[in-house]
Amino acid sequence: MDILTGLNEKADYSSKQLQAIMAAWVITSPFVGEPKMSVENGDIDEEDYSKQSIYSLLYSIYRSMGVVKSDKGISYEQVFNTWGYDWPEDWDKGTAEDDDPQRFGKNAYAGHFQWPLVKDYVSERDGKVHVVEMGCGTGAGAHHICKNVLPKCTFECVDMQQAAIHTCDRKFVPELGGRLKATRADCTELPIDDASTDFVIVNETHVTEIPGQATDEDRRFFGSAFRILKPGGYLLWANAIPDNTWEPCFEVIKDLGFELTEVRDVTQLAVDARDIDADRVNAYVQQCLDKFYGFRIPLLGRKKRLEAEAGLKNFIRHPGSNLYENMTNGTDTYKLVIAHKPA
Ligand SMILES: C[S@@+](CC[C@H](N)C(=O)[O-])C[C@H]1O[C@@H](n2cnc3c(N)ncnc32)[C@H](O)[C@@H]1O
Repeated sequence: MDILTGLNEKADYSSKQLQAIMAAWVITSPFVGEPKMSVENGDIDEEDYSKQSIYSLLYSIYRSMGVVKSDKGISYEQVFNTWGYDWPEDWDKGTAEDDDPQRFGKNAYAGHFQWPLVKDYVSERDGKVHVVEMGCGTGAGAHHICKNVLPKCTFECVDMQQAAIHTCDRKFVPELGGRLKATRADCTELPIDDASTDFVIVNETHVTEIPGQATDEDRRFFGSAFRILKPGGYLLWANAIPDNTWEPCFEVIKDLGFELTEVRDVTQLAVDARDIDADRVNAYVQQCLDKFYGFRIPLLGRKKRLEAEAGLKNFIRHPGSNLYENMTNGTDTYKLVIAHKPA
């Protein structure tokens, strides 16, 4: 059983299925050769995992964990799948409380609407704008925007992962009285009309990951964003990706017809967020690992638990992980970008 490639984005695994999947991963480990994830820093080669599998596992785990306690004893359900960043001092007051366990994810979403150009666009329409998010995860960010940032907007959030869309339909859609819709789709083939949205948000969506190049998937992904934007609308994009991938992606965006309007580097604030968040992440990861009986299998269980711990922490860019180091040494940079579709 290979949890890194063998799971399906159209599935939503139950707690019982997850127990069986993790136990099978542990039991079959002696027959599959060297671990793919480094137990030192969680590093994994791009070709050793598929995003379809890994996010399917993560969203099913988050759902199956349900409400947990943070390191400070605050109850919450893990729904942001985002590293985020600490709120810049030169912006207006943020929308998340200082003790909110998921405030850095909320910052990343609220941050899209701090640009003066974007604020003007929203106020000219009395806040009645339509937003599409490509790669929304559970829709936690969409919910935060609808509730605390743009209380008059309508929002469609899209992700390829069924487990994440189920969480959105359960936890966020009912509360928003028809303003939020969650759709499962691959965003390179979006089932959304041309020229129908004011903003497209791309927030830590797992594209543009390959160093030094924009892939065919990246082109199709941004092509969808351009197609569904109204003339005059904005692409709002934030992520930590290889520093040498930004330029090839900017070229793709400009070739599509976008004007690149603003770029801000917040890498240091993203590193700060991971440092501040470290105790909460440690607490969450331990609670996750404790839940799976497979990790209690003598000898094999302990080895695979260490691998899973390193992998999970790398995914969250936790201090000491490979992806955290990449942000501190400049290999990866976290940027906020706006691109304008000319009117
Ligand atoms: C790191 S998570 C971020 C999720 C969410 N934006 C958040 O901040 O919590 C990356 C997400 O990108 C989604 N994704 C990657 N490529 C996609 C595609 N082509 N179509 C739809 N979703 C995609 C994954 O399924 C995953 O949910």
